Amino acid sequence: MTRVLSCIQPTGEVHLGNYLGALRTWVAGQHDKDVFHGIVDLHALTVTDQSGVLGDSTLKLAAMLFAVGLDPDVATVFVQSHVPEHSQLGWVMECTVSYGELSRMTQFKDKTSKLEGQFISAGLFTYPALQAGDILLYDTNEVPVGDDQRQHIEITRDIAIRFNHRFGDTFVIPEAVTPAAGARVMDLQDPTSKMSKSTVTESGCVMMLDDPSVIMKKFKRAVTDSDSEVRYDVAAKPGVSSLLDILAAATGRTPSDVAADYTQYGPLKNDTGEAVVALLEPIRQRYTDLIADRAELARLLQVGSERARAVASATLDRAYDAIGLLRA
Ligand code: TYM
Repeated sequence: MTRVLSCIQPTGEVHLGNYLGALRTWVAGQHDKDVFHGIVDLHALTVTDQSGVLGDSTLKLAAMLFAVGLDPDVATVFVQSHVPEHSQLGWVMECTVSYGELSRMTQFKDKTSKLEGQFISAGLFTYPALQAGDILLYDTNEVPVGDDQRQHIEITRDIAIRFNHRFGDTFVIPEAVTPAAGARVMDLQDPTSKMSKSTVTESGCVMMLDDPSVIMKKFKRAVTDSDSEVRYDVAAKPGVSSLLDILAAATGRTPSDVAADYTQYGPLKNDTGEAVVALLEPIRQRYTDLIADRAELARLLQVGSERARAVASATLDRAYDAIGLLRA
């Protein structure tokens, strides 16, 4: 059976980009694939310096993952720090990737350019090595992610191939899987930047828990382009194309097909807002129910982490044996 793994960081709230780019694909795959989904709290540590926030964010994110439809009976939802093999394989990965390769990561360059003059952790630089460990620990075939993670999956493949070449066939070589529409949801106020938790303009980012009236307002205020033609053309018309992409993703159509229904921006903004509200409202209600029982969420995460650990520890053993470490 195809093995799937993908993870999300417990930093800030989950937004529409996370959902359309990744979480939706996770849910769609859970019944015919063997799926593992991690809440990667150790990754979040690269940008966290406050005490006492990560645990709470982890629990809230678990509620969101179950609210979007992950079924704990079939999907293994786990917490990265509950499976110590992630840190252990992460070090092996750091020794299998080069400084030059890490220096070429666009996400590192983007993030550090925003942190100029501030503390930049070494973990932010070595982050892709830990991510490679996350993926390779599970003999992963497919990694469903948004477009922004493609480069991290590419480097994971390079690391796996290098390790297998050095120490013998150990790791499965994974592949990134991105959705046809919604792989790169853009900021509604700045359609040339991706929608992100750390966005400067709050109104550009649609949160999963936003009230319907807030969602409608954000879409009505979305930046469009200077002429008034509705056409899917990402380079020439980023604002309109971003709306078309979201509406297509929300309704299971293609952006060009959706574009044919509109001649004006107003109705396009309104319909996109309504389609997103229809998509998110049931999730928001399920979230409210799930977050009320924190003990149950913690229990589900414990069950998931134990299941994850059984797979991860066997892979770590295999990797240590392949290297030829003296075993205790
Ligand atoms: P993170 O937590 O930033 O995002 C989680 C998922 O959401 C996708 N995503 C988007 N998709 C479309 N449009 C957007 N605007 C948008 N913003 C975010 C991301 O592509 C991602 O799939 N490094 C990862 C977490 C990670 C991971 C892993 C992923 C750690 N280990 C192993 C896969 C496999 C990250 O920071 O995702």
